[in-house]
Amino acid sequence: MIQLYWKNATDKVIDSRHGVTQGDLDSIHDALLAAHRAVLGQIEAGRLGYAALPGKSEYADQVKALVAKYRSQKITDLVVLGIGGSALGNIALQAALNDATYNLQSDRKRGGPRLFVLDNVDPALVGDVMKFLGRRLNTTLFNVISKSGETAETASQFMIVREMLRKKLGEGFAQHIVATTDMLKGTLHEIAKRDGYDMLPVPDDVGGRFSVLTPVGLFSAAMCGIDIDALLAGAGAMKQRTEIHQWYENPACVLAAVKYIMMTAKGKPMHVMMPYSNRLYLLADWYRQLWAESLGKRLSRDGREVFAGPTPIKALGTTDQHSQVQLYREGPNDKLVVFLEVDKHPREVRVPNVFGEVPGLAYLAKARMSKLLEAEKKATEYALAVSQRPTLTIRFNNISPQSVGEFIYLYEFTTSLMGELLNINAYDQPAVELGKQATFALMGRDGYQDLAKQIKHTVRVDNKYLV
Ligand code: PA5
Repeated sequence: MIQLYWKNATDKVIDSRHGVTQGDLDSIHDALLAAHRAVLGQIEAGRLGYAALPGKSEYADQVKALVAKYRSQKITDLVVLGIGGSALGNIALQAALNDATYNLQSDRKRGGPRLFVLDNVDPALVGDVMKFLGRRLNTTLFNVISKSGETAETASQFMIVREMLRKKLGEGFAQHIVATTDMLKGTLHEIAKRDGYDMLPVPDDVGGRFSVLTPVGLFSAAMCGIDIDALLAGAGAMKQRTEIHQWYENPACVLAAVKYIMMTAKGKPMHVMMPYSNRLYLLADWYRQLWAESLGKRLSRDGREVFAGPTPIKALGTTDQHSQVQLYREGPNDKLVVFLEVDKHPREVRVPNVFGEVPGLAYLAKARMSKLLEAEKKATEYALAVSQRPTLTIRFNNISPQSVGEFIYLYEFTTSLMGELLNINAYDQPAVELGKQATFALMGRDGYQDLAKQIKHTVRVDNKYLV
């Protein structure tokens, strides 16, 4: 079970200008309960598709059937083509739940295929991976993921891959592509049907950034040996905890309350997530998208300009103690730091008993690395508290599919609560859409000529300002 520890964000530890007081909690009490009721009501009414996922075996069953098929074909490499919500969850699950050296291990040791997630159109990245796969195409599977089916980055990668497969493998090329997309409509859906790819659904009622527990995230995870049933069970266990009505016993309500008070009453719109675990670091990337796209909104639900949204930032302990903590302690007091801490790491390493005679190093002899990591986290927590900087800790008893599933659901539900508290629509992304359309225009897509003219006027380089 993951737990949230929040005393160091309160005036029990830091002064009341920066820490949450009883008065702050009293002032949002009714709004918090109303937000909680509203989100539970939306779930009950079937309007928040992500919340139904933990109890649904249908998607996991479809994923398992395809995994069995492709595992029996001894696929050595799996390449995910996707971006944003169609990639970040895949990356986070793989980093959290498989070894850091997974891709470097032998086929037999890994058990599943190597995993590459191409979530950019950097030609060097795509070119490097394609070169590596060139001689392995026979045993490579591509999972193209796009809910809309028309995202330029994913579409361009897909076109490159399809052409390469078609040229090198001929007729059977379609057996090397799984399309994860809308089951009823869309460009990718149509092509997949025509070419005859295996298909997995992106549920209509689950937005991209909430889709990690759909086939979007589950297929690559299961292909790489991650227990997706345990992942969903973890999400289900957290779902039960988010239903608790006493807000102070409900981790999502406490998390939302502290974050909301920090940004609205304590001048802290910067919300840092700082895992003390490399394995959990990429969950912070997943959180950044969830938080930024869901909560960064110009308009309230009643149409007023509010420019809402905390800025999600990621940092890694201990690495960023030597990079960011100077700023976090002595720079503007505008941040809430959320630590992710692990009780039992997947591996332990002990410092050998050497240099016992060297005064500056003797304390490290025989130390467990997990103990050093824990001490450094507590030291940073203490140092921040001394500087009146609030922190929260989310404690994982271990890093398992269960605990990662709990974390995912905790943040998804908290995002919904924050959307209610901020009175914004947490499920659209109008500002991202304009960028997508502008890309179409700049790349010459038919129907976007007027937009292309407007854009060129703004982005044309004026030599007067070029130095
Ligand atoms: O959360 C979102 O909606 C976005 O990040 C999308 O996931 C991202 O833009 C990719 O979209 P699509 O899956 O339609 O290609």
